[in-house]
Amino acid sequence: MVTWQSTLEANLAADGDDPAARWVQLATVGLDGAPAVRTVVYRGRFGEGLLFTSDTRAAKLRHIAHEPRVELAWYFAATRQQLRIAGKMEAVVGDTPDPAKRRRRAEVWKTLSGEVRAGFVGGPPGRPLDEPGLGGSTPPADGAPPLTFALLVLWPERVDHVELKPSPHQRTLHAVDAAGRWHARAVHP
Ligand SMILES: Cc1cc2nc3c(=O)[nH]c(=O)nc-3n(C[C@H](O)[C@H](O)[C@H](O)COP(=O)(O)O)c2cc1C
Repeated sequence: MVTWQSTLEANLAADGDDPAARWVQLATVGLDGAPAVRTVVYRGRFGEGLLFTSDTRAAKLRHIAHEPRVELAWYFAATRQQLRIAGKMEAVVGDTPDPAKRRRRAEVWKTLSGEVRAGFVGGPPGRPLDEPGLGGSTPPADGAPPLTFALLVLWPERVDHVELKPSPHQRTLHAVDAAGRWHARAVHP
């Protein structure tokens, strides 16, 4: 059976080094119930979890604390395939109890560019420019991540895969059952 995990890996491989293949639209639910969507960079896997990063001061952190259910829309231009991945999102921060998650957070921190790392001591995202940042120089890649650095882990529960190259188009729904087993079924596009 073709799994959503193998489909994702194949799509990432097909897009090669194109950074756009790692730009994903992440939808959250705001505190007032309104949808909120933004682009984030895919940063790899943690078991079945999909990794992203954010400043802890950003709105999306407040959203997932209130409502962890989120959805991603991910379009791969090279293959003309879309994955919509829904599940619960968890923020891994400095005092997250699980040491394996904290280690993964530190690993991902090391992979970030200086420009991205500098943002974590800058001003609070979404606030007026006259509100001060945390100050200090860019936190080094080989040091401890700052408290403002969150690793976001999406634990998928449903994956909706659409392929536009075949005619007719193809669509497959993947869902996980209570025992953690994934099931796939083809549906009309
Ligand atoms: C190509 C691209 C990649 C981005 N990657 C990230 C990212 O990995 N993490 C992130 O928090 N914001 C990223 N952003 C900025 C977000 O889209 C968004 O503006 C910011 O996170 C604030 O969103 P929020 O207020 O809803 O939390 C990216 C923006 C673009 C255009």
